[in-house]
Amino acid sequence: MMMTATALCPLDDIPDGGGRQIAPAEGGEVAIVVLRRGDRAWAYRNVCPHFSIPLNYEPDTFWTYDSEHLMCAHHSAMFRFEDGMCVDGPCLGAALTRVPVRVEARMVIESQEDDGV
Ligand code: FES
Repeated sequence: MMMTATALCPLDDIPDGGGRQIAPAEGGEVAIVVLRRGDRAWAYRNVCPHFSIPLNYEPDTFWTYDSEHLMCAHHSAMFRFEDGMCVDGPCLGAALTRVPVRVEARMVIESQEDDGV
């Protein structure tokens, strides 16, 4: 097993209680949304499970509530920061696809476990 780690962005570049979009890595297709509450961060693929389209309507603009939920800009599905579960809206019970991240020295780092090649 091999670990690959990619720095996504400084924690302090994400609004506290909000989200920021990270463009796809070279060769990648899907952007990531990183959510922050205080010193914690979570990341998901920026794809709503309802219609498989980005969660935001305007570039890098995410609607969040009480530092707890991210709202899809299209049909208002609400997703929990912690696990990406849809707790209200048309895709209730579905979840965003998690991108594993950790915070290290105030930097959000994507850390993926690969089955080493
Ligand atoms: S596309 Fe997100 S709620 Fe419909």
